Amino acid sequence: MADREQPAAGRQQAFRTLLRYARPYRFVFLTGFLCTFLAIGADLLQPWLVKYAIDDTLPRGEAAVRTLIWIGVSYALLSVVGFVFSFLQANLFQRAGQGVVAQLRKDLFRHITRQGMSFFDRHPIGSLVTNESSDTETINQFFTQVLLSLVRDGLSIVMIFALMFALDVRLALFCLILCPIIAGIAVVYRKFLRTAYQRSRAQLSRLIAFTAENLAGMGLIQAFHQQKEQSGRFQDQNDQYLRANLKEVRSTILFNRTFDVLGNVSVAFMVWLGGRAVLHREIEFGVLYAFISYVRQFFQPINQITQQWNTLQSTLVSLDRLWRLFSVQPEIRDPAPADALELRPETMKGRVDFDRIRFGYAEGRYVLEDVDLHIRPGEFIGIVGTTGAGKSSLVSLLLRFYDVSQGSVRIDGMDIRQIPQEQLHRAVGLVQQDPFLFSGTVLDNVRLFREEISRETVIEACREVGADGLISRLSHGYDTRLSERGSGLSAGERQLISFARVLVFQPKILVLDEATAHMDSYTERLIKQALDKASEGRTTLIIAHRLSTIRHADRILVMRDGRIVEQGTHGDLLRQDGYYAELQRHSGLLATPNRK
Ligand SMILES: Nc1ncnc2c1ncn2[C@@H]1O[C@H](COP(=O)(O)OP(=O)(O)OP(=O)(O)O)[C@@H](O)[C@H]1O
Ligand SMILES: [Mg+2]
Repeated sequence: MADREQPAAGRQQAFRTLLRYARPYRFVFLTGFLCTFLAIGADLLQPWLVKYAIDDTLPRGEAAVRTLIWIGVSYALLSVVGFVFSFLQANLFQRAGQGVVAQLRKDLFRHITRQGMSFFDRHPIGSLVTNESSDTETINQFFTQVLLSLVRDGLSIVMIFALMFALDVRLALFCLILCPIIAGIAVVYRKFLRTAYQRSRAQLSRLIAFTAENLAGMGLIQAFHQQKEQSGRFQDQNDQYLRANLKEVRSTILFNRTFDVLGNVSVAFMVWLGGRAVLHREIEFGVLYAFISYVRQFFQPINQITQQWNTLQSTLVSLDRLWRLFSVQPEIRDPAPADALELRPETMKGRVDFDRIRFGYAEGRYVLEDVDLHIRPGEFIGIVGTTGAGKSSLVSLLLRFYDVSQGSVRIDGMDIRQIPQEQLHRAVGLVQQDPFLFSGTVLDNVRLFREEISRETVIEACREVGADGLISRLSHGYDTRLSERGSGLSAGERQLISFARVLVFQPKILVLDEATAHMDSYTERLIKQALDKASEGRTTLIIAHRLSTIRHADRILVMRDGRIVEQGTHGDLLRQDGYYAELQRHSGLLATPNRK
């Protein structure tokens, strides 16, 4: 895992950031520590009480009965106190840990949504989901398990030793000899456990990635009857995970039982050594009893702390991963307030200029070269070209999904890098090739969850673009819940809903990437009408795959290999008898069908 090789400096900074998140909860943590102290105190006083009963009370004979009753009651009370404070302590730590993590999740989500599209080209969605869900959860474990254990078990060990020394120095010293032995075993096992743990984690993430990929590609799998093959591959991954998991569990059990055995051996030694001391009347029997109890209690916290080592490791890995994500500065940034220009919807004209631009997704490989394009306000532009010609790339620059490598894109004469993104996105409306719908109602999808836009406005817009017929056929009309990818609706139908969005938000510039999916002639006609309606009074750029969509365009651009090779009206281009005319002769479609 490359993840673990994080320079110490980066990690330190990451920890500092984490502490900043914990700061608002410092009083909760403090109270938690206090409760821990009280809970441990109550637990450790119990053997002492028994020792008092045996050594100081019983020898007094009949007269001691009342005191014994009181000791019994106190013992019970101590148990209750211990219970109450451990309960409080666990709750307080959970509350602080969960609070920190909720904030972390929120900030991470915001951070991710502020990134430009190139970020999502580099980070697969599956791994971002893991970051957002399980990595943040691991951070929670740091607070609720690692930190808690360090405090609780560390304190227990110190207090147990203090009590032992108070009881009998010689026996306490003997117990100290155990420490290096325990440390030795812990070190050996730690290495062993870590490897097992890492293997099982790595295998789990492989399994998750495999599952995610399969779910995303379900259409393909079913189309090619790959279910059996994929099940087989899944079974392999699953088996490996199972084996890795069992190995991890075995190591943990082995470690725990070794500690148990060591504990029992120590008790046996204590019985032998302490028993002799009792016989020689060097200590009293009650002291021996208390000692044996403490030796037993001593192994539990040590065991706990060692086990937290694993959790700490996974916390560090998660922390590194999150930190690396948080350190990614959005490539597409809003201008500094001093440089910002204002694009007001009321006064906006809708002029668009691409000034000798060059653009590539990767360094040095340009997909758009030397594109110089000037569009008048209200002009209707059609863009055609073969698959991979750079049509979608061109319009994505206008929305600033990416920034140009050279040249500039301007709206109403303003470089779009100087326009705050919120204003830019309000000015340019997009209807995607394969529109994405959010999980939510049809209503919410048209108004994009903006409650201030009334139901009537939405219904009116849907009527105007001709989507009302389709929506009224849905089970709950405008309140029908759509799921991810708008399942149940075709690409064309989803485009209709996107057109309604355009009418609701009234951008001055409209960008449409026409669906390439097969559409029945009825839906095609609806889209055409919706487009006519939505392009009224707007500068419109349409990537067209159907001749009918752009036959009447003011200007048609023909793209090939990242360049505009021809432009003019439909008639002009046919007269030129160039690439466009050739495309047109091919079955009436303007571009070869493309991949998604
Ligand atoms: N996110 C991306 N990362 C890297 N390369 C990309 C990305 N998107 C597109 N490309 C590449 O850029 C080139 C232009 O792609 P683009 O999507 O703009 O073509 P297009 O003209 O819209 O094609 P289509 O008609 O198939 O939609 C292609 O070579 C493509 O492989
Ligand atoms: Mg495209």
